[in-house]
Amino acid sequence: MLSDIVNVLADPADGSALSESDDKTRLISETGHSYDIARQGYVTLVGGRGLRHEGDSADMIAAREAFLAGGHFAPFVEAVSSAVLDVLDDAHVPDDASPVILEVGAGTGYYLSHTLDAVRGARGVGLDVSTSAAKSLAKAHPRLGCVVADAWESIPLRDASCDVISVVFAPRNPAEFARLLKPGGQVVVLTPAAGHLDELREPLGIIGVEEGKLTRLKEQAEGHLEIVGSPQPLEFAMTLDKYAIAAQVGMSPSARHITDLDERVAELSETMTVTARAHLTRLKKAE
Ligand SMILES: C[S@@+](CC[C@H](N)C(=O)[O-])C[C@H]1O[C@@H](n2cnc3c(N)ncnc32)[C@H](O)[C@@H]1O
Repeated sequence: MLSDIVNVLADPADGSALSESDDKTRLISETGHSYDIARQGYVTLVGGRGLRHEGDSADMIAAREAFLAGGHFAPFVEAVSSAVLDVLDDAHVPDDASPVILEVGAGTGYYLSHTLDAVRGARGVGLDVSTSAAKSLAKAHPRLGCVVADAWESIPLRDASCDVISVVFAPRNPAEFARLLKPGGQVVVLTPAAGHLDELREPLGIIGVEEGKLTRLKEQAEGHLEIVGSPQPLEFAMTLDKYAIAAQVGMSPSARHITDLDERVAELSETMTVTARAHLTRLKKAE
């Protein structure tokens, strides 16, 4: 619920604190700016220039929901939740502290909901630039509040308000993440690795994952965040039927490029073994 997280949100215009109006239809900042709460329960916190990215479309979100519901990425979600628990343990966050977990580019809320189930009493901020995503995200978990905002801009949360920030296959803003982390807080990032879903690349014409993602993560973070330990490689095989394959492609950027997806999927065998590959990286504030 949005009311669980209002105290960590910030006015996108000037960073001042926000509170709910008495009738719970708006958030109002200390400086008097007002932001409507959508009837689906999310709030759009965007400064003067408005949203400059759309994020995932309604069709992509529906495809993501369908694919993730099949449980095919369970090892990824388990790894992210367990890394969040490790960060909280390492920072000695007490069990009754109601830690704040921000997920940037949270999509349907699949990962954040799982993490909130794993961390008793935690509060989740699900941030995404897509209003289609926000409609799912806002109802994904009782302890999750949803904000529509652009991760490339100033993120509308208070300084030092987050115990953990998670980013799963989504954009990163290291300077802002460093500002938002509490002392001892960390960022948990899941990035696709070269060879991810490779078996689908040729038959379907999907875009491959290029090498060097981890190098870019490190370079991009420089001066703001530094990698803790070694990135953890994750790799597992999935048995996907045609429905799951179509959903996987439909939720990815490839959806925008492949015009004859149905025909291509129809030519595949009934099920395929497809390999998922990623790296899980923890980062802390640079010293
Ligand atoms: C590949 S999806 C990953 C979604 C989710 N983390 C998951 O793995 O199920 C990327 C998500 O990032 C969002 N996104 C893209 N650009 C963004 C931006 N600039 N700010 C916030 N969210 C963004 C998209 O709308 C989409 O929901």
